[in-house]
Amino acid sequence: MSRLVVVSNRVAPVDEGKTASGGLAVAVLAALKETGGIWFGWSGEVVEAAADHPKLFNVGRLTYATLDLTAQDHDEYYNGFANRTLWPLFHYRLDLHSFTRRDYAGYLRVNSLFASKLAPLLEPDDLVWVQDYHLVPMGEALKRAGFTGRLGFFLHTPFPACEVLRALPSHADLVRSLCAYDVVGFQSHRDANSFYSYINSETTGTVTADGTVSAFGRTLRAAAFPIGVDTENVARMAEGAQRSPQTVRMQESLDDKHLIIGVDRLDYSKGLVHRFAAFERLLEAYPENRGRATFMQVAPPTRTDVPEYAEIRRELEEAAGRINGRFADIDWVPIRYLNRNVSRRALAGFFRIARIAVVTPLRDGMNLVAKEYIASQSAKNPGVLILSEFAGAAEQLTEALLVNPYDIDEMAEAMQSAMNMDVSERQNRWQAMFTTLQETDVSIWRSNFIDALRAV
Ligand code: G6P
Repeated sequence: MSRLVVVSNRVAPVDEGKTASGGLAVAVLAALKETGGIWFGWSGEVVEAAADHPKLFNVGRLTYATLDLTAQDHDEYYNGFANRTLWPLFHYRLDLHSFTRRDYAGYLRVNSLFASKLAPLLEPDDLVWVQDYHLVPMGEALKRAGFTGRLGFFLHTPFPACEVLRALPSHADLVRSLCAYDVVGFQSHRDANSFYSYINSETTGTVTADGTVSAFGRTLRAAAFPIGVDTENVARMAEGAQRSPQTVRMQESLDDKHLIIGVDRLDYSKGLVHRFAAFERLLEAYPENRGRATFMQVAPPTRTDVPEYAEIRRELEEAAGRINGRFADIDWVPIRYLNRNVSRRALAGFFRIARIAVVTPLRDGMNLVAKEYIASQSAKNPGVLILSEFAGAAEQLTEALLVNPYDIDEMAEAMQSAMNMDVSERQNRWQAMFTTLQETDVSIWRSNFIDALRAV
């Protein structure tokens, strides 16, 4: 059986109890633990002079191979091209998107560097599976470094509509390098369709009904492979965490008020400013919720060197202060705003007791918080998911209360219906979504993708 080699910018902490920094890390770790293999990527360290060889260490059948980045590489590749050029562009934020040739050169350089360090560790029949927008040119670079085996790529973020992508000066190179892979996976059908429409309108290539793309002299398969969570495991963890000291403490502090929960990296794509405004609108328009609902937003800061992230942090602090100042009472504070990481286990317990989860990104590839919330509910007394129609998860979780995150009134109305939804409607909606999550969990995502890659 061929080995699996996963390449991603960030390699998750080995200790599963720690919060991994995003959906990708969680999903990939679950996938690799099933198969064993190599996980290759950045160590998370920035150093003066990078070592010549990756650091290797083994955990069971899994080998971690990590490289440090120099300050210049980190600045140009990670802060620059990945997070100031591609991230805003892929999330439809042309207003925040910037492009410099210096950052672009850094991006290509780090991709080539990673490829040259990984190539010696590879065997010809390995299945190499590259993850996410940081590493689009990695496949081409691995070929240049002599690897001739099968190459897959999965994009965890949205793939933007053709006209948005065209704002990237190097869009043609980016798509050409995607076509160097044998299988390219997207989170949703919407993303796959955006890719097809780029191929059809901007290249001389063709796309067949089953997603076979012929372009740039290559033939590949491109399709939606919606990522999942480890449904049963999350459900078990939430059930156990319900009795944990942290959850009990939370429950006691709520004093019978309904908990509305949001959990997101502190990122402008997550729609947090709009969400805070919607909660404020709920308290204005439906005053019976004052003293009855507590909104807790967990938002650990990330990418703090990128100025746009400092700006969103400032805006949210201001909004939380304003709303709390306006509505707080001696025994009730409307918003609890936690600017830090909370362990996955503690979160699962909080999800379990939260009456409502608000997952309202302005754009999101999938959003695994939505799935973890559903997986964490009790069948008897499940909560309600309010979900943005612009999250990939909305293609699957159609029984959520779907909202347009730009419509503050609509989100406030959804919160009001969720606050008052009777138990049988909550059960029906939850049961349908939980079944979907059982049928499309992370191991199915992994095996669907790998089977497609193996079939090449
Ligand atoms: C998103 C991206 C991942 C990334 C994660 C955390 O989920 O799709 O690739 O790892 O955010 O972001 P960070 O910049 O902290 O790695």
